[in-house]
This record gives sequence, C-alpha cells and structure tokens, in this order.
Amino acid sequence: MTTTIDALDADRQLKAKHRAMWALGNYPELATDLISSLGPVLVNASKIRRGDRVLDVAAGSGNAAIPAALVGATVVASDLTPELFDAGRSQAAARGAALTWETADAEAMAFPDGDFDIVMSCVGVMFAPHHQRAADELTRVCRTGGTIGLLSWTPGGFVGQLFATMKPYAPPPPPGAQPPPLWGNEDHVREMFGDRVTDVSARTDAVTVDHFRTPADFREYFKSHYGPTIAVYRSIADDPQRVAALDADIDALVRRFQLADGAAVMEWEYLLLTGTKA
Ligand SMILES: C[S@@+](CC[C@H](N)C(=O)[O-])C[C@H]1O[C@@H](n2cnc3c(N)ncnc32)[C@H](O)[C@@H]1O
Repeated sequence: MTTTIDALDADRQLKAKHRAMWALGNYPELATDLISSLGPVLVNASKIRRGDRVLDVAAGSGNAAIPAALVGATVVASDLTPELFDAGRSQAAARGAALTWETADAEAMAFPDGDFDIVMSCVGVMFAPHHQRAADELTRVCRTGGTIGLLSWTPGGFVGQLFATMKPYAPPPPPGAQPPPLWGNEDHVREMFGDRVTDVSARTDAVTVDHFRTPADFREYFKSHYGPTIAVYRSIADDPQRVAALDADIDALVRRFQLADGAAVMEWEYLLLTGTKA
C-alpha cells in the first residue's frame, strides 16, 4: 500500500517536473518556426475527415490538432502542459479553427474507452516516460476500427541525436523512464501495440529545417526556446567548462547533419506510423 502511494507520488512529481520543463522557453514559437508542416502530414496520414472525433495526445499548441479541426473534425487537443494552450487558442482563432483543450497525462487520461475515431500524436506522446502505459492509453481511448496515427523522431535522426548529445550532461532519468526517440523505432512501437493494432503502415521521412544560418544560431535558439535543452543547460549552469563542452557538442552535431557548407540547413528524420484498433 505504502509502496503504491510512494510510486504515485513519485510519478506526480516527475510529471510536474516535465510540465515545468515544457513550459520553459517558447515551444509554440518553435513549433511554428520549424515543424508546422508536420501537423498536416499526420492529419493526412491518419485520414482525418469532416465529422471524425479526434484526440491529439501531447498536442502542445495544436500543431496537428488545429489542421485536424480545419478539416472539419471535432478535436480535443490534450497535453500535460496547459501553459501551451493560450498560444494554441490564439493560433486556432487566427486560423478560424474551433477545438477544445484539455490537460491530460498521456499515461492516465480521463477519456472513456473507445471515445475517439482517431487518436494521434505528433512528436508528443514519445515524451511520456513510460511507453507501454502511454501506448495502452492510446489504444484504450480509440474505438474499435478507429485509427492510431503517430509521428515520432527517430533515434538516428537529428532530434534523436540531439537527445543523445544532451544525455551525458543531464541528470540521470528516474528508474523506469524510457528514452523518447525509441518511439521512432518501428519494432518498439509494433511490440507495444501487439495484436491490438492491425494494418500497421510505417515509413520514415524527414522535415527540412532551414531556419538557421549557422550551428551557433541553432544552439542559441534551442537554448532560449526548447524546454529540454534549457533544462539541461540549467543543470550545468555552475560549471562553465561543461557548458562550453555542450555548446561544442551541439555545434558539431549540427555540422554533422548540415546538408552542405553555408547555411545550417538540415533534414530531421521521423517515423510516421498508422494502424487500426482491432
Ligand atoms: C515536442 S512537443 C510536441 C507538441 C505538438 N504535438 C507539436 O507537434 O508541436 C512535446 C509535447 O509533449 C507534451 N508531453 C510531455 N509529456 C507528456 C505526458 N506525459 N502527457 C501528455 N503530454 C506530454 C509536452 O507538454 C509537449 O507539449
């Protein structure tokens, strides 16, 4: 009994930490500047139609939820970090989209079983630390015959490698937490869903990011905009040598992925996977 309460408490604390991290910087601006094309990619792949009831899990400021609403679907945008919703509401209003916003941990959602025709997540659910719990929840809230659509950064792609680069500088993850880019590994995702999801279709693709002139531009932008990067730098702030080493490692990573000399144009690889709830 005490163990269960302790575990629940530890999980609540971990999620509070994650929420605070994603509220740092300016994630909504980053999503608009860099990956706004990915929401429509996921909406198209999930075959969302007018009248569908859609749940966007870990929706952030609505990168996928807003395009889904613009198709005419009835959309709930859910996320652990409601601090991101105001930006989402402004974007939705500016684009003429109507949808609802609900705070929810992807690992324990309050929605009833089978409540949605489509359950999707764009580089979102991958950040819930307990992958199987999150996969079970995606499956539970999707109706039989409904679609699960996921777009996730791959381990070997740029964002996966950014997390690998930051890892040695970050405090160790709590026991049981799994690395986000594993959701970009098709076998891992297939294994989590098992026979509960059929007709799985998966392909890798990449988004071209041409927002940065130099590796240093990228680094400074992420240090001011992206919660996970801001949090790692905060954890080493009193050690200038480690800060300089992480700066150099991030610059080297950008150079490794840069398509050509000159501007720091990169392709960020993702896995796009859809399936039908059996
Ligand atoms: C990289 S952002 C993606 C947001 C959005 N889907 C997009 O495409 O821009 C990751 C999101 O996952 C959310 N998140 C992290 N852990 C979560 C959890 N356990 N449950 C629900 N959302 C979570 C964060 O708050 C953040 O909004």
